[in-house]
Amino acid sequence: MPVATHRVSALTCRMTTPQFIQLYQHNAAAVAQELLQGLNAPQAFTSPKYLYDALGSRLFEAITELPEYDLTRTEAELMRLHSASMAAQLPRGACWIDLGAGNCEKAGRLLGPMGAGRYVAVDISVDFVRQALDVLQRQHPSLPMAGLGVDFSGGLPLPTELALDPAQPRVLFYPGSSIGNFTPEQALDFLRNLHSACGSAPGSGLLIGVDLLKDPAEMEAAYDDALGVTAAFDLNLLLHINRLVGSNFAVRDWRHLSRFNAPLSRVEMHLQASHAVTVQWPGGHRQFAAGETIHTENACKWTVPSFEALLRSAGFASTHAWTDPAHRFAVFWAGA
Ligand code: AVI
Repeated sequence: MPVATHRVSALTCRMTTPQFIQLYQHNAAAVAQELLQGLNAPQAFTSPKYLYDALGSRLFEAITELPEYDLTRTEAELMRLHSASMAAQLPRGACWIDLGAGNCEKAGRLLGPMGAGRYVAVDISVDFVRQALDVLQRQHPSLPMAGLGVDFSGGLPLPTELALDPAQPRVLFYPGSSIGNFTPEQALDFLRNLHSACGSAPGSGLLIGVDLLKDPAEMEAAYDDALGVTAAFDLNLLLHINRLVGSNFAVRDWRHLSRFNAPLSRVEMHLQASHAVTVQWPGGHRQFAAGETIHTENACKWTVPSFEALLRSAGFASTHAWTDPAHRFAVFWAGA
């Protein structure tokens, strides 16, 4: 026993502790204003980010286990199968910047095999990554780690407190096909921001997962599963909105729809009023006719060539794609 105790204390001494920086501050008035602007629009809409309150995040985790929703599993399998080829393309000793890190599980599997030199977990709140980073730090005791709380949807601020080394290559990591939740115009802006966040060290780039265009019926089913988990995920938005703006949406008045919009190559999620409904909030209200919808999410589907062209337009100099044999999903490495 004394020997074991001695080993533990030696490890503890060498373990770095993660740094935490919270930049994003919740502004309740601005959030309410943004939501009400969307709810008052001729085609009512809300940003998909409001799908993720505490319950919404748990429902999304459940979605990733559904038979109809194979994105997460296919991506994990691609990363596992092509790990050696990825390691050959990506820079060693890089600073990994994990966008929307959450439980840090996806990056956690790659840090060792890819020889990461630093890890920065980015999410809206450092509280979402705190516990995961503490666990990860124990697995990689000498790897410098940080949690950064920012809303990166409109750009990626990299504060000076992070003290990023301009000579260290950066790997920006954006898995899960979250890029699909942007329109192509928004995606281009976002990727341009990521390109500049790559910095100037040679070898830097972006590792990104993208769901590919496939049979429309399969895509619609992925967003409207038989168990109704995605419906619950979408409808829960109404409860979240009630808390954020003080409205009186009743879940039972609405039903979830998933439909593929072929010209725009995207699955759209909508909440449809089952009958005429008046929704009230402090200082206003809206009448929804029977069948009228609130557009709650877009999930754009790309092909390998169309996404490569988007990466090039955003300024990335080279691209490499790994796909599964059925071309359902792709992981791209885009060299800055
Ligand atoms: C997070 N994002 C990539 C998911 C998607 O597939 O668009 C969100 C989701 N919405 C319904 N199911 C999953």
